[in-house]
Amino acid sequence: REVEKSSLTVIGTGYLGAVHAACMAEIGHEVLGVDVDEAKIAALAEGRAPFFEPGFPEVLKRNLENGRLRFTTSLAEAAAFGDVHFVCVGTPQQPGSHAADLRYVDAVVDGLAPHLRPGALVVGKSTVPVGTASRLAERIDAELAWNPEFLREGFAVEDTLRPDRLVVGVTSPSAEQVLRDVYAPMLAAGTPWVSTDPATAELVKVAANSFLATKISFINAMAEICEATGADVTTLAAAIGYDVRIGDKFLRAGVGFGGGCLPKDIRAFRHRAAELGLEESVRFLHEVDAINLRRRDRAVSLARELVGGSFAGRSVAVLGATFKPDSDDIRDSPALAVANAIRAEGARVTVHDPQGIDNARAVHPDLDYSPGAQKACEGAHVVVHLTEWSEYRDLDPVKLAEVVHGRALVDARNALDLAAWRAAGWEVRALGRPRA
Ligand code: UGA
Repeated sequence: REVEKSSLTVIGTGYLGAVHAACMAEIGHEVLGVDVDEAKIAALAEGRAPFFEPGFPEVLKRNLENGRLRFTTSLAEAAAFGDVHFVCVGTPQQPGSHAADLRYVDAVVDGLAPHLRPGALVVGKSTVPVGTASRLAERIDAELAWNPEFLREGFAVEDTLRPDRLVVGVTSPSAEQVLRDVYAPMLAAGTPWVSTDPATAELVKVAANSFLATKISFINAMAEICEATGADVTTLAAAIGYDVRIGDKFLRAGVGFGGGCLPKDIRAFRHRAAELGLEESVRFLHEVDAINLRRRDRAVSLARELVGGSFAGRSVAVLGATFKPDSDDIRDSPALAVANAIRAEGARVTVHDPQGIDNARAVHPDLDYSPGAQKACEGAHVVVHLTEWSEYRDLDPVKLAEVVHGRALVDARNALDLAAWRAAGWEVRALGRPRA
């Protein structure tokens, strides 16, 4: 279906922006992607994806070739080109604080402001504390809308082209119409459309991520109870998940959530609520965070127990470095937190990951890395499974038993066939599950 072509810019070409830019070109718009990182822009312009995201390289190449997608490092060029500007820069956690660091969002808005074309619309997509849009609107002579993004890494292209819903926070009917035109193919496909004010749109995003984080910590809290009582959290999760009001998604107990979004978003939300004098309203997010971090400690202590109470002089194989499979993202990865904690207790730690090794090595040069899962396990006293890549499910515990020093396994993601490992003579521990 032909769309009414718009001239769009997408500012900030990380996971969110690069995928958004390519997907907006894919549905027919003229798109200019912008970033201050020259190397990243050069890579994208040559059709090289600067990160691992299934399906993204194909969409990128196709739209570079058909001429609808271009890249630049010039914000002034972007301002001169675009009718709609999507702001997709990062809002990381501030060092030494829980607050979101808004300097990149502020810089983009200030950089665009003097060069904007008349009638241009600036649309924030970054995750921000509620109130940001109205604060920024005072600094710019254009309408400022908020349109949060809900894509998951690993499914970013799919989630962008076929979102569960579109949420737009606008202050005028004309801005809503501009966004309806941009997203016309999604609307034609029946995607639910929620039009609201910017504050609600900003909050929808943090509320959604807070709910998801809470769901994971809920099941991980149940895992703690299961561990003390000999019950099995995986069965418990399946059983409660049959109730459609609860649902079976996001109830995988394990080493908890990480990544560039959920951990920092719940912290920034608590910080923002405190600023508003509403600390109590989201105090439970403190528990959500605490439960999540305790699971990392638990994975460490199960591994320690399996090597006889001390890591000193032991070799540990860590399967997985990324915060989840099908991504090369290691930001706040539980796997690397566990690997580093074990190393700090004196073990030699060898990490394998199908996609995340380069990123991990750059940030954690003190860990050892192996190009193969089986190789990582050679001579290990314990194998700790921390990111549920599908290739780990295909490992043969019989073959692996021949190369390890001790047949001991911690499944910190509850994703392996424990019966098969036990049958091959392995001593197995899993989070929230009985010992045998
Ligand atoms: C998350 C949200 O799912 C997206 O909707 C949102 O757009 C995105 O954050 C964002 O704010 O940008 P993402 O961080 O890509 O997406 O990853 P998720 O699939 O949500 O997983 C987050 C973490 O939770 C991972 O570490 C994963 O291993 C963990 N997780 C997830 C569990 O431990 N158990 C589960 O049942 C599900």
